[in-house]
Amino acid sequence: MAEPQKTWEHRLAKATDSLAVDFVESLSFDIRLYKYDIVGSIAHAEMLCEQKLLTKDELKQIKDALVEISKEIEEGKFKFDKTLEDIHMAIEAALTAKTEAGKKLHTGRSRNDQVATDIRLWMRDEIEIIQTKITLLQKALVKLAEKYVGDVMPAYTHFQRAQPISIAAYVLSFVEQLHRDNLRLKNCRTILNVSPLGSGAIAGSSLPLDRKKTASLLGFSDITYNTIDSVSDRDFCAEFIFDCSMIATHLSKLAEDWIVFSTTEFDFIRIDDAFCTSSSMMPQKRNPDMLELIRGKTGSVYGSLMATLTILKAQPSGYNRDLQDDKRHVFSASDTIETCVDMAAAIVGNTSFKTEKISAGIDKGFLDATALAEYLVKKGIPFRTAHGIVGTLVAKCEKENKSLAEISIDEFKKYSEVISGDIYNCLGAKNVANSYATASAASPGQMAEQIKYWKKQMEK
Ligand code: ARG
Repeated sequence: MAEPQKTWEHRLAKATDSLAVDFVESLSFDIRLYKYDIVGSIAHAEMLCEQKLLTKDELKQIKDALVEISKEIEEGKFKFDKTLEDIHMAIEAALTAKTEAGKKLHTGRSRNDQVATDIRLWMRDEIEIIQTKITLLQKALVKLAEKYVGDVMPAYTHFQRAQPISIAAYVLSFVEQLHRDNLRLKNCRTILNVSPLGSGAIAGSSLPLDRKKTASLLGFSDITYNTIDSVSDRDFCAEFIFDCSMIATHLSKLAEDWIVFSTTEFDFIRIDDAFCTSSSMMPQKRNPDMLELIRGKTGSVYGSLMATLTILKAQPSGYNRDLQDDKRHVFSASDTIETCVDMAAAIVGNTSFKTEKISAGIDKGFLDATALAEYLVKKGIPFRTAHGIVGTLVAKCEKENKSLAEISIDEFKKYSEVISGDIYNCLGAKNVANSYATASAASPGQMAEQIKYWKKQMEK
């Protein structure tokens, strides 16, 4: 008699309907967990042996067979049978076919604690991969910032010209955002790094399993302390995808800025040809498609977050098959983020600021108005009064189509007797940018310090 393929053929009288086979399987996507499934199984087997539930000989047979299976999968020689549903059953079936001892591996274990373990093991590694990629993007940004630390550009509020800043200040704003993204991922990793293995299907086992042993073999910091929670919650998956969503949000801001900056209207930056496309019809075009895709892919990452939260919402406590689909969204979000961060780093490394173009237009838009008000404050005028004086001057200049620096000293004096010739030192975008005195303000001097700080930080 042929060995039953599925482990429950003694219970269910009929083979699974073919439509149901396709519907229930996850092997097509959870195959990505195979290494973690095997590592988890080896740890479980080691523990079973220590607890005398496996002989040393059986342990060796199981380990050898699992290593063989791992090689077969790596080399593409493994036969995947979707009637086995998922990676856990596929590997167990292959193991049992290789050695009788394989039948003992699932002692005290369920796919419920197995999958909760595998996905945590996978996510720990994935978080490190994303963190490394983020650091590379930060390095590219710091390099770009360093190149333009002495150059000034406008900063915008309400997308209207606000105050002049060192270009480095603008570029480093993304380094800060990405730094928090990495901290969030670090926190997510800390929270998820506990072992659910040994929780079994829902309530644990009557066998003397040593959960702390498998936890330590797998590098978990502790075990989980409630078996129901262990097999039923995937809050860490939602959190991981939220972290990916935040990265996508930050990348989408950079993408949007740079799409605007590369227009003829702005003409602030040039993205290298290698990262542009052209048009099949309009021969003049240099389109920033890579940035548009980074911006657009934010949608699919947010979609994964919504999908995961909705999968988790109002499930009855305990394991439910709904949870199987978490992996589609976790994998999709992480794949998207990996490629977007890589793409962003490459674009950042191949973009230059058109500093001449930027400075040619920098004295439009009264970027020095706030600094002028602060000049009056330094001479003893209350800020509200100073704000009013400068507002009047700006309105006058706008009518006369000139900049604040083009007002003569005699004219200035009509507006306030405290004004003297030194007023011109605080006018003009470059002077203003150099005058910022508060901690971490957007001046070239302070940004040079920040660049030093980030460089040191990233060496670690
Ligand atoms: N493939 C399943 C998942 O990813 C494994 C757990 C299945 N457990 C069960 N009792 N049917 O969630």
